[in-house]
Amino acid sequence: MAEPGSIAERVKQQADIVRLVGDYVRLKKSGQNFLGLCPFHSEKTPSFAVHPVKQIYHCFGCGTGGDIFKFVMEMERVDFPEALRLVAEKAGVRLPEQRPRTPEEAKATQLRTALMELNKVAAQFFVEQLQQTREGKFVRDYLHDRGLTDEIIQTFGLGYAPGTGDALLRRLRERGAKQEILEASGLVNKDPSTSLGTGERGFYDRFRRRVIFPIANESGRIVAFGGRALGDDQPKYLNSPETPVYSKSRVLYNLHRGREALRRLDYAILVEGYLDCIAVFAGGLANVVASCGTSLTELQVRLLARSTKNVVVSFDPDTAGRAATERSLNLLLEQGFQVRVLSLPAGYDPDSFVRDKGGEAYREELKKSLPYLDYLVERARAEHDFRSQEGKIAALNYLLPYLARVPNKIRRAEWATELAARLQIEEALLREELRRAATERRGEMKLRPEHKQALEASAVKPAERRLLQILLENEEIRADVLKELEDDAAHRGASLEETFNQVLALARAGEPLTVERLAETIGEGERRRLFEMAFESGPAVAGSLEEARSCLAAMRRRKLEGELRQLQSDIQEAERAKQGDKLRELLARKQSLHKALGELS
Ligand code: UTP
Ligand code: MN
Repeated sequence: MAEPGSIAERVKQQADIVRLVGDYVRLKKSGQNFLGLCPFHSEKTPSFAVHPVKQIYHCFGCGTGGDIFKFVMEMERVDFPEALRLVAEKAGVRLPEQRPRTPEEAKATQLRTALMELNKVAAQFFVEQLQQTREGKFVRDYLHDRGLTDEIIQTFGLGYAPGTGDALLRRLRERGAKQEILEASGLVNKDPSTSLGTGERGFYDRFRRRVIFPIANESGRIVAFGGRALGDDQPKYLNSPETPVYSKSRVLYNLHRGREALRRLDYAILVEGYLDCIAVFAGGLANVVASCGTSLTELQVRLLARSTKNVVVSFDPDTAGRAATERSLNLLLEQGFQVRVLSLPAGYDPDSFVRDKGGEAYREELKKSLPYLDYLVERARAEHDFRSQEGKIAALNYLLPYLARVPNKIRRAEWATELAARLQIEEALLREELRRAATERRGEMKLRPEHKQALEASAVKPAERRLLQILLENEEIRADVLKELEDDAAHRGASLEETFNQVLALARAGEPLTVERLAETIGEGERRRLFEMAFESGPAVAGSLEEARSCLAAMRRRKLEGELRQLQSDIQEAERAKQGDKLRELLARKQSLHKALGELS
């Protein structure tokens, strides 16, 4: 990716990985490195390291790692060109006008830019309609009546889509919007009932007679709109369709505006609706987000996790709200969130509660919110009679799946103890059930990457690992060592075979050998070993030719021993099958293998 001499390489040299990563992760100096809590998995003790000299990062917990571009790509979920742009911007490096790589890419980027421009124009139009028209006056009254001040209306950029049917469409065309962009924007619909439905005619505004809520992505760009009907029109809420700039499953309403408060207060209030979100915000709690128009998705949860891993779920106290709460709990728990649940008195949603009782009262309710397990136990108690054996079992069946989802073993054990006490059942029994719940889920459970890596890592022999390290750290002897390695392919069948192959490939191509270069092309297990190694330091890491040779010898021996084992079983096979000629040939090979092994030691 970052070719030597390339723009990317230049940007990388001028960017300070410690400072850039520091924008996302609180880093503390520790020895020659910097340490912090990994932003890619949930943890309590820091295992995320940044190496200021090599300009790489690595999490010793989850195994992820790379250079600054990789970090930004993962963190912001963007592709390489976008990461390059972001890093360059932060590092104050001016990029030359970048020629997108393929015409398709260029076209896609152009379309996205045009769509966001169009949305901006549309948002302005909606605001104008709300603020400056007679029809809009009536809607403003409605909003005021719902407790929204002019200031809040402005903060959230609320607008109004008039009933005319093509007012926005005309405005957008006036501004020179092309038909193709209009159709992709989701702002206009094709009228299916008219034969004019092709070409430029037969289109009309998607949003008509609706209060408009602009929806921004995490960078604050307007990517979509939500529209609430006035009166009883159906549907109550109409949202933009999926477009090249909008995927509803990966946008959280108010995330951009709430970002700073989310990080500062280190918790989020999660509500269901636009108006809930706005009311809570207006009540003085800026750290509120809404999932809007969809039940919470994993992508949304991951998006939120970049700002905080603590959340108070504040959904409606009705049946649908409770179901949504329980679904969301699962997702949040799986992503390692600490979750509390706020149950408002029946009949209230956050919006009406704040309007009726004020922001201060909502704050009090927040303090009374329950840790999610307490909430679930309360829910179970409402449904089942804990005094009867059947009731206990039913409650347990309801609760176990949640408990089994808690990723942290220690927390899970704590909850189990707690739950046993609440349900007044034997703790041992509960643990047994929990274990069974876990095993019964196994069919669908994937081998977790940590486990897989732990297994792979344990198989790596010290000699291989050391040789790789010497190759990376000691440029002077690299060429000699690589030649000896290549001559008899001592790395064949080794546990770091893929890495060594890559090292050889880079050398043959005359490219520089760096950790991040290697990491791009090798599998996860080997990558992890590679990063661990890169973070080791000390006067002796560079090694010597002599040490490299002894590592090579150890690897050759391991390789020969492997061949010998294979040969032995082939010999037995040939004996059983009475294949005389083959047997003689195999025995001869065995003898020469023994000789080679003897020479090695
Ligand atoms: P609600 O029906 O609870 O609406 O839907 P609300 O936010 O309380 O709005 P008011 O107070 O009645 O005006 C909650 C959220 O679910 C989505 C919207 O995001 C809404 O804010 N929703 C609801 C839809 O997407 N479509 C619908 O038809 C209804
Ligand atoms: Mn409401």
